[in-house]
Amino acid sequence: MAEKLKGVILAGGKGTRLLPATRAMNKHLIPILNRPMILYPLETLRDVFGITDILIVSGGEHIGGFADFLGDGKEHKVSLTYRVQSEAGGIAQALALAEDFAAGQPLVVILGDNIFDNAILKKSLKKVPRGKGDAAVFLCEVPDASRFGVPTFDKKGNITKITEKPAQPASHYAITGLYLYPADVFEKIRRIKPSARGELEITDVNDAYVKSGKCRHCILDGFWSDAGTPSSLARTVAWAMDGLEPRA
Ligand code: DAU
Repeated sequence: MAEKLKGVILAGGKGTRLLPATRAMNKHLIPILNRPMILYPLETLRDVFGITDILIVSGGEHIGGFADFLGDGKEHKVSLTYRVQSEAGGIAQALALAEDFAAGQPLVVILGDNIFDNAILKKSLKKVPRGKGDAAVFLCEVPDASRFGVPTFDKKGNITKITEKPAQPASHYAITGLYLYPADVFEKIRRIKPSARGELEITDVNDAYVKSGKCRHCILDGFWSDAGTPSSLARTVAWAMDGLEPRA
């Protein structure tokens, strides 16, 4: 019998774009209204993918904050495991720490500052025809693509390349921080080298799947935000407010 799908939330890094708030607390515990940011990716894994077995990776100085807030996950109907990333060496380095947890199974990976409209994401998932051994990435049209991993397309709309934060983006799309990976993702991570900024980039992992013809993609049209900057955090709060019941 196939094992149940597992999920990983990557919640390490330094959160420098949200200083000084991140001097006192981890970025992913900053509230969106009254709900710490981490609840959003947690609910995406649980409600969109039906995942209840979740690993949270964060820096040693912050892991206690997550454990205090989320505990074993029971309150949120999930089972949580924690792993420490000793240095913020990049998203792919953080993901490498999930190898034992994955135990040879495919994974759904989400960045802790990525906030999706779960209802729309769930519908879009059905549009990703994914074979065994394929990875999948989710794209969103953005006005400021050079902040993100950016796909290059051929004339048929296939992705031919993914570039991290290009000065001159080849398209208006961002690769969002949600990734579906087959079991060989850890092999791919072992083969990449640190980037110019000294990090193991998730974009290089995704690009390796593109190069081997094993990267599927889906364009999302609902709300998505990488809430890691003051303006995108404000946008996310505004979106969350819209979801509030009007006051009686
Ligand atoms: O949000 C989508 C974008 O996220 C993608 O388009 C980019 O390709 C991807 O590189 C990433 O870009 P960012 O510049 O937003 O990455 P950032 O350094 O902010 O890290 C995003 C999350 O990854 C962060 O909230 C926690 C986690 N992380 C990051 C680093 C550098 C870790 O867990 N460990 C790390 O060492």
